[in-house]
Amino acid sequence: MKILGIESSCDDTASAIVEDGATILSSVVSSQEDIHAAFGGIVPEVASRKHIENILPVVDKSLSDAGAKLADIEAVAVCNRPGLIGALLIGVTAAKALSWALEAPLIDVDHLQAHIYGAWMADEPPRTPALSLVVSGGHTSLYRTEGPLEHELLGSTVDDAAGEAFDKVANILKLSFPGGPAIEKAARNGNPRALGLPRTWIDAEHSNFSFSGLKTAVLYHCLGQNASKDDIKNARYRPGFVADVAASFQETVVDVLVRKTCIAAEKTGVHSVILGGGVAANSLLRKRLSEETARRGLQLVMAPMGLCRDNAATIAALAFHLYRAGTRSGLDLEARPS
Ligand code: KG4
Ligand code: ZN
Repeated sequence: MKILGIESSCDDTASAIVEDGATILSSVVSSQEDIHAAFGGIVPEVASRKHIENILPVVDKSLSDAGAKLADIEAVAVCNRPGLIGALLIGVTAAKALSWALEAPLIDVDHLQAHIYGAWMADEPPRTPALSLVVSGGHTSLYRTEGPLEHELLGSTVDDAAGEAFDKVANILKLSFPGGPAIEKAARNGNPRALGLPRTWIDAEHSNFSFSGLKTAVLYHCLGQNASKDDIKNARYRPGFVADVAASFQETVVDVLVRKTCIAAEKTGVHSVILGGGVAANSLLRKRLSEETARRGLQLVMAPMGLCRDNAATIAALAFHLYRAGTRSGLDLEARPS
């Protein structure tokens, strides 16, 4: 069964065609990174306008890359939650139009569940029950996962998401946007123990996260306690200083994510750990989580590198399972920010 998936929840416009929840026939992602980089972060209104321009060419390219015609599409899947409301609306509206014109079923997909489903698209599927860590620009959450469609939320961030912290710290350090890859690169030449930064709730019994104090600690270290936006704009740092701060920050985030994931995995008695979301592309996180899960005899299944960041392939693939479970949406489907 060929499903066309659409994803527009944040700043990427994506369309993909996936067969039977497993075979990716095409996956097109049009990134807006260059546009938002000028602002040091995503501007929701700009994102919505770009999605309007991008959506049809991206859908067309996903069809031509797959060697498919519209008539070959048997269902249309769309991410309708959570995300930026204006951005989501573009994908949802396009998907409704396609579903209506093709007389094909419409299936609504949760963005975070799609990130977790990335693990089922890796070489070896996860053994369930599993513990899923979703780390992205908008979310940092731990779930107990019984299958592709069954996730019980155990905890999440009470303030900034891990990816958001990477983006904000990159902004403080005057690195490029998105901050994750820029910090990872700068950190290669730095000393991860140069700064002692707060590891909030690292040994706590609960599974919630907090990264806003960490971001503030970096700001105070770089520019002092009364730093203003102008101070960030006018800041000039030595490259060695930036490398040390980036390395220490990355080490701290990875420490917290890995330790809290392992504590939750032991507590919930799962067989596997699943890693998904944009921050799952971070190589230090992948390495540390591999080492620590191996030490505990846990299987680790990480979303393949190409499917960590936002994409429509995981949307179309997960929709196959939703379709089989009877999920159908009407043309009254709403975009939901949370
Ligand atoms: O899942 P995603 O593509 O979009 C959201 O759902 O938010 O995640 C984007 C986030 C950004 O905050 C970005 O800085 C972060 O993922 N990210 C990384 C890396 N690549 C992307 N963070 C750390 N290391 C990376 N290599
Ligand atoms: Zn995402």
